[in-house]
Amino acid sequence: MYLTKEEERLLESENETIATAMKLLVTVGKMFDAERLVKVKSAHVSGVSYDNIGDAGLEWLESLNAKVSVPTTLNPAGFDVKRWREMGIGEEFYEKQMRIIKAFERLGVKITLTCTPYYIHKPAFGDHLAWAESSAVVYANSLIGARTNREAAITALAAAIVGRTPFFGLHVKENRAPTVRLKVSGDLAAAGYEAGKLIGGEIPYVIFDRKPSEWELKLFGAALAATGSVPMFHSPGITPEAEEFEVPSESVEVEGRGALDCDPDLIAVGCPHASEEELKMIYELLKGEKVKREFWVFTSRSVASKAAQVVEKLESLGVKVFSDTCMVVSPATDTFECVVVNSGKALHYVPERRRCEVGFADIFTCVKLARTP
Ligand code: F3S
Repeated sequence: MYLTKEEERLLESENETIATAMKLLVTVGKMFDAERLVKVKSAHVSGVSYDNIGDAGLEWLESLNAKVSVPTTLNPAGFDVKRWREMGIGEEFYEKQMRIIKAFERLGVKITLTCTPYYIHKPAFGDHLAWAESSAVVYANSLIGARTNREAAITALAAAIVGRTPFFGLHVKENRAPTVRLKVSGDLAAAGYEAGKLIGGEIPYVIFDRKPSEWELKLFGAALAATGSVPMFHSPGITPEAEEFEVPSESVEVEGRGALDCDPDLIAVGCPHASEEELKMIYELLKGEKVKREFWVFTSRSVASKAAQVVEKLESLGVKVFSDTCMVVSPATDTFECVVVNSGKALHYVPERRRCEVGFADIFTCVKLARTP
């Protein structure tokens, strides 16, 4: 693998963290036959919740000694850092989680605690990135035309430190070609959930039965990436590179349908974190009525502060708008028996990570449920 003089110096660095980061990336690059590294414009790091990484992860992060060299954002943690008591988080969990956040801060990572870094700073078409968080990877590749592989938490952090990632996979244009045609109708989050299971790691060329909104595409991509290992999709007239490749002939069809499986004591939306548009939509759907069940909406602190007025109105109707965390990575969800979500990704991961049942309904049904005692 070709390395520039500077990259060789990083590999031989006396700083153990930098040298190890570089060694890791070179090893990954060799595994995937990358000819060289490519400079990245930003990195997005996952593996933040103490619930996921535990003491071993915490101690490892605290042992690192370097600074990130490109703008680096951070995935959600195990609670809302301002409302953790209200979420029922214990002191010990709180302290460990805050040590993790401090360790990232010491590395120079921006404490964004969101899976939607593109709402904070939108990359440009063609930018090379090193993003972990599969839903953000699909979004960046498909809706923006930026280029990132599905990085692991550790390779994204290594890339953040040395500002480079191996040049293979979706960094190379030919590898971004669609490999299967996918016809989609119905609810897009549910459709993405089903489609991911069918197509695995293929890149679909998607034909929607209507023009979807941005938030529907976000939920669709997140679900595809959760049940499959899909890194991106194309769709004519929607995604930037759709017209640049041949349309595959093999075709699959899915229809997304809701399937409420239990009577929810919690309705949880905002996976991936809600946009300003979604917050406004939820407020409008509530039609000024107070919620009758626990209704949690997850968004980033950045979006919540931009949409402060809507957040305030939602809170006045009894909705809890939490930041920094989500229904999957927070142990707060464990205190409920049945959680209904409008996200295919949450539908996939809640049963795996949390101790409660999960049901699925589209956002309109979720809000209707919240208004029903
Ligand atoms: Fe984000 Fe949590 Fe869903 S990190 S994509 S809201 S599982």
